[in-house]
Amino acid sequence: AAHQYFERSNSMGINLANDDQLRMLAEQVNAAAKADWRAAPLVPGATVSGPHIAVTNPADRRETVGQWQAADAATVELALNNAVAAQDAWNATPAASRAAILEHAAQMLEQRMPQYLALCTKEAGKTIPDGVAEVREAVDFLRYYGQQARKIFAVEALPGPTGESNTLQLSGRGVFVCISPWNFPLAIFAGQIAAALAAGNSVIAKPAEQTNLIGYYAIKLLHEAGVPEAVLQFLPGDGATVGAALTRDPRVAGVAFTGSTDTARAINRAMAARDAAIGVLIAETGGQNALIADSSSLPEQVVKDAIGSAFTSAGQRCSAARVLFVQDDIADKVTAMLAGAMNELKVGDPGLLSTDVGPVIDNDALQMLVDHAARMDVEASKIGEVALDGDAAHGSFFAPRAYALKSLDQLRKEVFGPVLHVIRWKADQLDNVIDAINATGYGLTLGIHSRIDETVDKISARAKVGNCYVNRNQIGAVVGVQPFGGQNLSGTGPKAGGPHYLPRFTTEKTITINT
Ligand code: SER
Repeated sequence: AAHQYFERSNSMGINLANDDQLRMLAEQVNAAAKADWRAAPLVPGATVSGPHIAVTNPADRRETVGQWQAADAATVELALNNAVAAQDAWNATPAASRAAILEHAAQMLEQRMPQYLALCTKEAGKTIPDGVAEVREAVDFLRYYGQQARKIFAVEALPGPTGESNTLQLSGRGVFVCISPWNFPLAIFAGQIAAALAAGNSVIAKPAEQTNLIGYYAIKLLHEAGVPEAVLQFLPGDGATVGAALTRDPRVAGVAFTGSTDTARAINRAMAARDAAIGVLIAETGGQNALIADSSSLPEQVVKDAIGSAFTSAGQRCSAARVLFVQDDIADKVTAMLAGAMNELKVGDPGLLSTDVGPVIDNDALQMLVDHAARMDVEASKIGEVALDGDAAHGSFFAPRAYALKSLDQLRKEVFGPVLHVIRWKADQLDNVIDAINATGYGLTLGIHSRIDETVDKISARAKVGNCYVNRNQIGAVVGVQPFGGQNLSGTGPKAGGPHYLPRFTTEKTITINT
């Protein structure tokens, strides 16, 4: 029934336009940021040893924000045994009780927003608005999958002949491994875990190495909310040892992964090579996201949405716009306005509200961007580059920039950072533009700016993408409102925050009784 879609509200977050709320938030975040954060494997019965690895602030590498310890092979093995042993009881816990625990965790997370905001800023370099959005999205995922579990786990009576009762029951699949990315270290991390738990699976969570602290404190919160410690374990470590050991293990029923397409392929191969039941892989991977603007669109709006989509979160969103295809009639105007608007962007300390663009995640990411810019400086023409101030040298800062390209072929792969590429097209080339976008093989987000309904319909029908945004920006999908995820090289589906996600974590049983 329609009302089912309205019984859950998304997190309100805080009003960033209210000075009093902001001041209070800033004080609480600053207080929380003084903590000495420590992360280690959370595996019942494990002895944690091994070196303490320092975490430094991406905005200022002189500042150590915490430390973490990696899981060793024995801890991985113990975690797998614990997860197998714990799954039956969790699976037998009514879905409504599992949902209630996730909903409790959502409420706790909302109340502790400043601590998680401080972690997002200090460990992941997130700006305050990004951090608020991150906590809100995590809260939304916890509530959304809780609500979905209450709904889909209700036993369904099926029609059948008299003298027979037929029911369809859902169940968890077993042990799920959740491997999450650093760009949404709380939201995607919590989203994968919430879905796997809501469906009755035990979970081993392995966050990206860059954001172990956030992951650790999210797991602690879920334990406090009532998830048993053996049902949800935390295994920080590098992908080559911890991630690979988990994904090749026959005790693992499924993997939820968000990260690069190459790693998703490697996980798929590892799972396929096991002498075990065929596992489930739910992968959300890269993109080569375009924004198409035709001559009927409003240049001011195109520029605002291109800048928002390309440079928010320092371009480190899988949804971010990488290529603006602009029709030649308005291209000069759009390009000039883009360069002008870029000069207004402030790159710097993500803890300051005046900052638009914070640092990139680490020096490897920075180097990749520097290399790309060096190639673009030769092969393309620069439209604009945001100025960096002197303090930027202490952190992993990359100046957002825009380049004019001749063709999409000049972009060999996804450039994960604040770089926008602009390509002009002529009125008779719209089909070629759509073909070129589809030919990348990626299919995540697409922005369309046009006032002509037929053009919008044509592009959205022909483009092989997961999320189309018309006359707005193309980032920040909202849980339960804009189910998010791509196709082809961009992911396996189902979409996160949508109604088909949770069923993928379950297995179905039909029971027929001769009455
Ligand atoms: N869900 C995020 C967004 O829509 C993913 O990158 O921006």
